[in-house]
Amino acid sequence: MTATRTYGYTDTLDAEHYARALNADIRAGLTATPKSTAPTWFYDARGSDLFEEITQLPEYPLWRAELGLLQQHAGDIAARTGARSLVELGSGASTKTKLIIEALGPTGLRYVPVDVSADALHQASAQLVTDYPGISLHALRADFTAPLVLPELPDSGSRLLAFLGSTLGNFRRSTRGPFLRGLRDIMRPEDFLLIGADLVKDEGEMVTAYDDAQGVTAAFNKNLLHVLNHELDADFDPDSFDHVAVWNADESHIEMRLRSRAEQRVKVRGLGLSVPFEDGEEWITERSAKFTVDGLRAEMADAGLRTDRLWADQEAGFTLILATAG
Ligand code: AVJ
Repeated sequence: MTATRTYGYTDTLDAEHYARALNADIRAGLTATPKSTAPTWFYDARGSDLFEEITQLPEYPLWRAELGLLQQHAGDIAARTGARSLVELGSGASTKTKLIIEALGPTGLRYVPVDVSADALHQASAQLVTDYPGISLHALRADFTAPLVLPELPDSGSRLLAFLGSTLGNFRRSTRGPFLRGLRDIMRPEDFLLIGADLVKDEGEMVTAYDDAQGVTAAFNKNLLHVLNHELDADFDPDSFDHVAVWNADESHIEMRLRSRAEQRVKVRGLGLSVPFEDGEEWITERSAKFTVDGLRAEMADAGLRTDRLWADQEAGFTLILATAG
């Protein structure tokens, strides 16, 4: 007989909450000029799988750069924080988190992965409780762009909040401040925040990371259309849009866009909308900010986060910042 390992699970994005947030964002985004929607909606089961595929692409070095930094410094992170709870925002497959979990010592460790994808959470959680039978895992399905209500965490011992993979880059400059401040506000003096961020580098390299030769990123981008067709009874034809990636120097971010290949109208029945597209019109589907080490440190300081330790891989252009609510 095999024992079934279990984990806790809280869904704050039940069908009703998910639908309400999706409806509001897509209605606002598709009636704005330019059209612009949140990247949250990429991540159904297929979108999460496509993102995992992206992380393995030669054109997408940031994932491996962060993995390398964690391989080198997870021991140091564990020693400095001594954390007994680990909360990870946008945990996805939790692949890299294993390095931190092992460094902290999995037995008795409270791990709270937070993600919008139920499938990603269940897959990762089932694997982790099998690999680390002593871990105390509670998965939280939530949209971390809204205020977080965390499941019970032990009162004693420090907590480590991890926000890896440069997902912070999905926030625009004006919303990063309030977001970081919100994280700071749930931190106690003994807690830490670990942020992984991609750095500004050669424009060609940055663009290629979002426009790979195999078209995996294009499929990821167009997965949004499949999600909208499915969730909002829309009739987007994915073949009538092209995937576009451009560097926006003023905002220091990569924009993924979908460019309409023709003048067309798309019905989004779930919203009672008929959405007009001009031939060549571009809809912004994701922004991925790229940082400078000093710029990010300053933004964190402005949000009340004091850098405890900073590691950077200058060659790959990636940084990890460990901060306290100092
Ligand atoms: C998961 C948000 C960090 O912005 O690089 C990868 C998502 N989009 N390729 C990123 C993504 C297109 C990724 N983040």
